[in-house]
Amino acid sequence: MAEDIRALENAAQPANPRFTWGVSTSSFQIEGAARLDGRGDSIWDAFCRQEGRIKNGDTGDVACDHYHRYSEDIGLMRDLGIDAYRFSISWPRVLPAGRGTANEAGLAFYDRLIDELLASGIEPWICLYHWDLPQALDELGGWQNRDIAGWFADYAALVARRYGGRVKRLATFNEPSVFTIFGYGFGWNAPGIADKAALHKAIHHVNLSHGRAVEVLRQSVRDASIGAIHNRQPCYPSGTGDEDRQAALHFADYWNDAFPYPQHFAFYPQALAEEIEPFQKPGDLALIAQPLDWFGLNHYSPHYIKADGNCLGATLGPPPADVPRTAIGWPIVPHAFRDTLLDINARFRLPIYVLENGTADDDKMDGSGNIEDAGRVAYLQGYTAAMREAISAGADVRGYFVWSLLDNFEWTAGYSQRFGLVHVDFATQRRSPKASARWYADLIKQSQKSSAAGGITSAARAGSDG
Ligand code: FCB
Repeated sequence: MAEDIRALENAAQPANPRFTWGVSTSSFQIEGAARLDGRGDSIWDAFCRQEGRIKNGDTGDVACDHYHRYSEDIGLMRDLGIDAYRFSISWPRVLPAGRGTANEAGLAFYDRLIDELLASGIEPWICLYHWDLPQALDELGGWQNRDIAGWFADYAALVARRYGGRVKRLATFNEPSVFTIFGYGFGWNAPGIADKAALHKAIHHVNLSHGRAVEVLRQSVRDASIGAIHNRQPCYPSGTGDEDRQAALHFADYWNDAFPYPQHFAFYPQALAEEIEPFQKPGDLALIAQPLDWFGLNHYSPHYIKADGNCLGATLGPPPADVPRTAIGWPIVPHAFRDTLLDINARFRLPIYVLENGTADDDKMDGSGNIEDAGRVAYLQGYTAAMREAISAGADVRGYFVWSLLDNFEWTAGYSQRFGLVHVDFATQRRSPKASARWYADLIKQSQKSSAAGGITSAARAGSDG
C-alpha cells in the first residue's frame, strides 16, 4: 500500500499540493434526537411514518444518537487522522417551521460540534441541504413552490451569520438529482411524489435556491469556499437493445446534467429545456449560474439503465452478469470513477472534491469484536487507485471523503445497509472501528508523511482554494 500512496502523492504534486482526506455524514442519517430541543419534523420523519416506505419500519428518531454522542464521534475522527469532516445542517432543527423564528437550542448544537472539530484540528465542511426538508415547507408545496428559493436563501443567511466566521467550506445541495428524481419523479423517496410536472418544478426551484444561496453565502462569509455536491456516473444501457440505449441517454441528461449545466453554464440540457420552460422567469438562469470554487462529486458506481413506463421512460436496471457487485448489488467499476473524474475536470474546469465514495459490505463481527470488512477495504483500494489514475492523467482532484464515518440510517433501506468505517450497534450505540477504518487511517498517515517530506503540512491545507 505504501507504494500506492507514494504514487498518489507524486501524482498529486505539484498540480494538487493540498490533498484533503475526510469523511462525510448527513444530519437525518445520524443525529437522532428527532423531537428534542425544539427540532421540527422533516419530510423524512413524515415519510418514515408512512406504512411500508422504509425497510423494517425503521425511523431516524434515534439513528446514531450523534446529537448526544458527537464528542465520541469526533474522537473516532481524530483516531482516523482525517483533515476534514463534511456534515449537513438539519434545516428543521435550526428553523423548525423552515422559516421565521430560529431555534437557539438547535443552532447551539452545531456550535458545539464545530468548536470541537476545530479544537481537534478537523476542518468542518457544511452542506446546507441533505434531503431533510422541513415538513412545514412541504405542506406549502416544498420544492414545487417557487417561494422556496427565498426561504432557502434566508436559511443560508442564518447559517452564514452563525457559523461563517468559523466554517469556510460551504455546499448548497447534496445530490439534487437523487432527491428530485426519486422524491418527485419516481416517488421512491420523501416526499413520495411521482409526477412529471412536479419533478420539473422541483428541479428548477432547487437550481434557483442554489443560486440565491450562493449569492448570500458569498456576500456574508469572508473567504468562503463554495460548491455544490453532485452525483455523476456513466449511464450505460442495461440491455443491448435500442430502447435501453435511448433510455440511458435520456436518463443521463437528467441525472448528470440537470443541475451542473444551469449552475455552471446557465442553460438546461436540451432534453429538459422545454419541460422546464413554463416554470422559468427571465433572469433565472443568470441567477442560478453563480461562480463556484469547486465541484463536489459523489460517486459509487455506474448506472445500468433500462427503458420503463415512468415519467423519464427510464429506470435503474441490472448490470451485465460479469460486472462485480457489492454486498448490496451495486456494480464495482473503478474505471468508471476515473473516467467520471476526468470528464468533470474537462467539462467544469474547477478543483474537484470527492465528497462521497464507499460501500455497504456484509459486515460480520467475530467473537473478539473485530469486523474484518475485506470487501470494503478492497472497494476503497480499487476506487482510490482509480482516483490516482485520474490525477496522473491530469484531473485536479483536491480531496477524498469516505461515505461514511458510521453505519447509519440508509434512507428507504433503514438500518439494513451498513456504509460505515465504524460499526454501530444500534441497540447499545456502541461504536467499533472496522478493519477499513484502520486501513483508511493508514492511508492518511502515509499520505501525510509523504506530503510533509514535500514541505506540505495538513495545517497548510485549510481554506486554500476558496
Ligand atoms: C448517497 C447519499 C448518502 C448515502 C449514500 C450511500 O446517495 O448522498 O446520503 O445514502 O448515497
